[in-house]
Amino acid sequence: MEEFLYEKEDRLIRCGDLRLNLAVLGATGSVGSAVMNVARAFPEHLKIVALVGGRSAEPMGRLIEEFSPARVGMYYEDSAKKIEEAFGIKVYSGEEALIDIWRSYDDIDALVVCVPGLFAFKPVYEGLRSGKKVFFASKEALVVGGEFIMKEVKLKGQLVPLDSEHWSIFSFISEGQRLRRIFLTASGGSLRDLSHQSRKDASVSEVLRHPIWKMGKKITVDSATLMNKGFEVIEAYYLFGLPLDDIKVLVHREAWVHGMVEFADGSIKALLFYPDMRLVVQEALLGSSSFENPFIPRLDLRGRFSLTFEEPDMEEYPCLNYAYYAARMGGNIPVILNAADEVAVSLFLSGKLKFGDIPKLIRKVLFHFPMERLSSPEDIYFWDREARSFAGEALEG
Ligand SMILES: NC(=O)c1ccc[n+]([C@@H]2O[C@H](COP(=O)([O-])OP(=O)(O)OC[C@H]3O[C@@H](n4cnc5c(N)ncnc54)[C@H](OP(=O)(O)O)[C@@H]3O)[C@@H](O)[C@H]2O)c1
Repeated sequence: MEEFLYEKEDRLIRCGDLRLNLAVLGATGSVGSAVMNVARAFPEHLKIVALVGGRSAEPMGRLIEEFSPARVGMYYEDSAKKIEEAFGIKVYSGEEALIDIWRSYDDIDALVVCVPGLFAFKPVYEGLRSGKKVFFASKEALVVGGEFIMKEVKLKGQLVPLDSEHWSIFSFISEGQRLRRIFLTASGGSLRDLSHQSRKDASVSEVLRHPIWKMGKKITVDSATLMNKGFEVIEAYYLFGLPLDDIKVLVHREAWVHGMVEFADGSIKALLFYPDMRLVVQEALLGSSSFENPFIPRLDLRGRFSLTFEEPDMEEYPCLNYAYYAARMGGNIPVILNAADEVAVSLFLSGKLKFGDIPKLIRKVLFHFPMERLSSPEDIYFWDREARSFAGEALEG
């Protein structure tokens, strides 16, 4: 990439000739907002061609006014209709919003996938198959269909993680060094300072009050159970191809260190930055850490500070163990884990399940099914339905 220097706000910024035309799936969410923020800051490099959301018509309306995308999608039909009426444009809905909105168009170079849950699998998988570059925050895509996705990556795909831990590790690997072990750091979630009993009875509002990150509800609950970290272990397992025993989780309350790798000689490299998804998104999309963005806070290294790391308590956080188990088993088991977690978290958020019962419901569903191989991506949807239906029965039981 040819590079040049230019003046902006009295600072010299190193800048490339990069131009990416993007379809952003999940544009109105927490990561989606970070993506739109970066696109706003670097319009000369990032062009928004398609925007997709789920339900929230108003924030999508604001993005349409600001970015004038060529195409818009809303997964849920009533929301798509609202946007159609307000803007007099065609709005894709259902599967069309996740796939057709970009697949048959070559004005899109890359997809940015930040929709939660099982919905993420198809756009990531199909995006790679059609030769688009895929940036993804949605770890669930790899949890449910890691083997299918990584097969496409080996064939021709370009897949770039947007999870801060995986992005950090990814940036070390591009230097071409061999890894011995990797460490995924976890802040410990919203309930990290509570006793066992108070944690079990925690209310929805307590669980959603994350001490560091402002994220969507699903991932915030998953952070409190450490299921999010478990999903990240599975994501790392597929992305980096290390044995599961060499993928370690460390609780790191400060959330300054996002990923660490240990090399063959015992040296460890860590990437530190202020916990802000805009930094990850910016570096990943622009492919460089040379761009300044005055809106992203910097770490304050003045005075005394300390960085702490500790091993997670696996008894207190059984969901992390379930994820290691699912990754070890492979086949349909990670699909079942994901479905059981989606059901349990949604029941908790609607007040129908106690926080302490989330791992119990997941365990019941997870260990009910024997391992079966997945022969095609369609099997993912079969096992997802089976697990959801059994979760309903288990709950009634
Ligand atoms: N938040 C973070 O800091 C973070 C960090 C790393 C990874 N991740 C991962 O990124 C993903 C998104 O997390 P988030 O925190 O950004 O979630 P979020 O705030 O809940 O946002 C989800 C986005 O996806 C849209 N959406 C939901 N269902 C959809 C569907 N069926 N089709 C199309 N769009 C749909 C939502 O639209 P509406 O709001 O209109 O429904 C919203 O724009 C998750 O997989 C999460 O694990 C998040």
